[in-house]
Amino acid sequence: MGQFLKLAIAFQFLFSIISGLELFNFEKSQLTPRDILTQSDQNASLLKFAERDDPPPLNTTCKVFPGDALWPSDAQWALLNSTTDGALIKTIPLASPCYPGPLSNTDQCSYLTANWANSSIHMVDPTSPMSPIWQGRTCEPPTLAPTLNGTCTLGGLPSYSINATTVSHIQAGINFARNTGIRLVIKNTGHDFSGKSSGAGSLNIWTHYLKDIAFTANYAGDAYGNYSGPAFKAGSGVQAWEIYEAAEKEGVTVVGGEGRTVGVMGGYILGGGHSPLSSIYGIAADSILSLNLVLASGEFVTASPTSNPTLFWALRGGGGSTFGVVTSVTIKAYPPLPVTTFSLAFPPNITTTDFWNGVRSYLTFFPSFTAAGTYGYFFIFPSSPDSTPTFLLSPFFAPNLSIPQTQSLLTPSLPFPLPITYTHHATYLPAWTASFPQEPVSRSSGYFGSRLFPCSNFLSPNSTLFNATFSAIKTSVEAGYSLISFQIRGAVHPSNDPDSAVNPAWREAAMHSIQTNVWNATGDIAALEVEARQSLNGRMEEWKAVTPGSGAYLGESDRGETGWQTSFYGAETYGRLVGVKRGVDPGEVFWAKTAVGSEGWEVRSGDPVGNEDGRLCRV
Ligand SMILES: *[C@@H]1O[C@H](CO)[C@@H](O)[C@H](O)[C@H]1NC(C)=O
Ligand SMILES: *[C@@H]1O[C@H](CO)[C@@H](O)[C@H](O)[C@H]1NC(C)=O
Ligand SMILES: *[C@@H]1O[C@H](CO)[C@@H](O)[C@H](O)[C@H]1NC(C)=O
Ligand SMILES: *[C@@H]1O[C@H](CO)[C@@H](O)[C@H](O)[C@H]1NC(C)=O
Ligand SMILES: *[C@@H]1O[C@H](CO)[C@@H](O)[C@H](O)[C@H]1NC(C)=O
Ligand SMILES: *[C@@H]1O[C@H](CO)[C@@H](O)[C@H](O)[C@H]1NC(C)=O
Ligand SMILES: *[C@@H]1O[C@H](CO)[C@@H](O)[C@H](O)[C@H]1NC(C)=O
Ligand SMILES: *[C@@H]1O[C@H](CO)[C@@H](O)[C@H](O)[C@H]1NC(C)=O
Ligand SMILES: *[C@@H]1O[C@H](CO)[C@@H](O)[C@H](O)[C@H]1NC(C)=O
Ligand SMILES: *[C@@H]1O[C@H](CO)[C@@H](O)[C@H](O)[C@H]1NC(C)=O
Ligand SMILES: *[C@@H]1O[C@H](CO)[C@@H](O)[C@H](O)[C@H]1NC(C)=O
Ligand SMILES: *[C@@H]1O[C@H](CO)[C@@H](O)[C@H](O)[C@H]1NC(C)=O
Repeated sequence: MGQFLKLAIAFQFLFSIISGLELFNFEKSQLTPRDILTQSDQNASLLKFAERDDPPPLNTTCKVFPGDALWPSDAQWALLNSTTDGALIKTIPLASPCYPGPLSNTDQCSYLTANWANSSIHMVDPTSPMSPIWQGRTCEPPTLAPTLNGTCTLGGLPSYSINATTVSHIQAGINFARNTGIRLVIKNTGHDFSGKSSGAGSLNIWTHYLKDIAFTANYAGDAYGNYSGPAFKAGSGVQAWEIYEAAEKEGVTVVGGEGRTVGVMGGYILGGGHSPLSSIYGIAADSILSLNLVLASGEFVTASPTSNPTLFWALRGGGGSTFGVVTSVTIKAYPPLPVTTFSLAFPPNITTTDFWNGVRSYLTFFPSFTAAGTYGYFFIFPSSPDSTPTFLLSPFFAPNLSIPQTQSLLTPSLPFPLPITYTHHATYLPAWTASFPQEPVSRSSGYFGSRLFPCSNFLSPNSTLFNATFSAIKTSVEAGYSLISFQIRGAVHPSNDPDSAVNPAWREAAMHSIQTNVWNATGDIAALEVEARQSLNGRMEEWKAVTPGSGAYLGESDRGETGWQTSFYGAETYGRLVGVKRGVDPGEVFWAKTAVGSEGWEVRSGDPVGNEDGRLCRV
């Protein structure tokens, strides 16, 4: 093992020199078996790397949980803390100042209450998630969660976090979790629809401060098609705005997310990742040239076309929290692009009939819009019965097109006037900055479901399939659902590798649509949850019926999706992914709801619909 590890590191070092993008300094700080040898036997047993002949963890029925005899002692946590240079944080829920106790503070509570929907305050907190519903909403500001009766508990929040700033911190955390049998989770910003960055009784590897970015104009690593050209290497804590600013400075363009708060180099890109440039350059994972990660064994490895190629295949689309903790990703950069944008809303004084005729007309444009490489972020909000819903297209994003080229795509025959003001941006960053304000954290209670709609659904207006698609969308809005949708293509760009674990459903898609229901947070929550779950399942059945053989985007998906393996990964891809998972994480150190190979475990929460507030046990 020790020899192997040294060899691996030596090889990696060589590889990184060849590519022109060396290991980051934080990646050179590694834990080695030699470091473990200097510890006493007792301490070494908590920090050692995995060996092939390791016995199974002691409590094999469930992950070790707070209160168990096997839960690490304070001294053992102190060992982890000293091994991670004091980066260990015991969880204090963000809204603690709002509750009785030593942290109670009226001013801080007022600030938190007023800013609770602001993503910025959650992304710099080690554990606060942006989908609080899955951690059990156990400690929100009281005025936002009146049913909590003045109590603030950890709920589904991890017990401890490591504020990781070196690879050695991550290795120590993984080894400690594996050797003690406790649960492990990973958080960057916490922007996750499925609650993957929460988990009661877990140790959280917090990757938010892995912010290094490096650029080379002449990447020369071994890549698909022997790519040579500009590339970025970015730490897994890097967010969309950070990589976009770096790209603007270097005079290139990169494929990243829409959202400011999304940590693009973690769960986003590993789960595929859609972006305003997807209609021309494909899914974000298609641009990956290589990745560095720490495996469940504690080993630090590179995954690329020539180093761990199977893992490289799986990491491009197979999802986060599954194969390891990614520390950095190297992605292609593309030439600079001008962008034309506009935003519009249907007038508020139109009839409901005209409204739906307008939506219908919009859908007929999807094949030509996506073929032209454009992207549209649109919203349909229901309204009270008998009044017209709301339609918002914000933005329509036309990379590489001039204003006249964009205008020529739009020949709508609408039953109402719709003036459009076009803006042309010389490069990507100003277009993105003007078009995508920071997204708020959704604090309201509700479930999300999503579906990828193939281009073929929109090809023949007036066909049975087109009509059924339109009707499925309209019925959801009439049932009170809000739609957050994308007119987007996810095809592989000819210069990129078509063989990855990206959900094949992306390749045919012209629309990714999310539907969400919302309930009243002051009611009988358990009953409302059950009702909302049943309702969403019904809506999703209708969406699936009009998109047979398609799937859903893992990164913005329903935690409770029926048949998630096929929906989120594609049946054949899923089979391959499970093989990779078994090979690389035989002890199931990494677990997340709806992640590859997660079927064998469940969170035993008391919640009727299920959340992260409970012990993780074998099914
Ligand atoms: C093992 O897990 C069970 C739950 O299945 C728990 O009740 C028990 O305390 C655990 N045992 C130890 C020794 O931690
Ligand atoms: C184990 O590690 C802790 C923390 O570094 C240290 O205080 C303790 O002395 C070590 N125990 C032994 C037996 O060496
Ligand atoms: C870890 O060590 C640092 C520095 O000594 C300390 O500030 C912090 O409170 C410790 N964490 C825990 C969980 O004890
Ligand atoms: C969100 O919070 C950050 C700092 O935490 C602040 O800079 C920003 O202005 C806030 N945004 C809004 C919309 O209030
Ligand atoms: C709050 O109190 C009500 C009424 O006593 C009770 O039904 C409910 O379960 C309590 N909720 C919590 C989260 O403790
Ligand atoms: C985490 O580490 C970063 C980088 O060292 C530091 O700036 C930040 O304050 C730390 N956060 C917490 C909550 O400890
Ligand atoms: C690089 O080019 C050679 C020769 O065309 C080819 O055999 C090899 O597969 C290419 N490498 C990759 C990773 O595509
Ligand atoms: C709706 O309002 C616009 C702008 O005020 C006006 O021009 C138009 O005639 C109105 N349409 C209807 C159907 O009332
Ligand atoms: C952008 O437009 C130019 C000129 O029409 C064309 O040569 C280039 O291939 C386009 N780039 C992409 C990425 O489509
Ligand atoms: C689809 O709907 C349109 C508009 O309502 C209608 O004219 C057309 O006949 C329908 N097509 C089919 C195949 O039913
Ligand atoms: C669809 O049918 C309507 C009449 O119901 C007709 O006005 C329209 O031209 C048809 N559209 C296409 C693309 O065939
Ligand atoms: C939620 O329920 C409370 C109490 O039943 C009621 O006062 C309030 O108006 C409801 N809010 C909404 C948005 O329905």
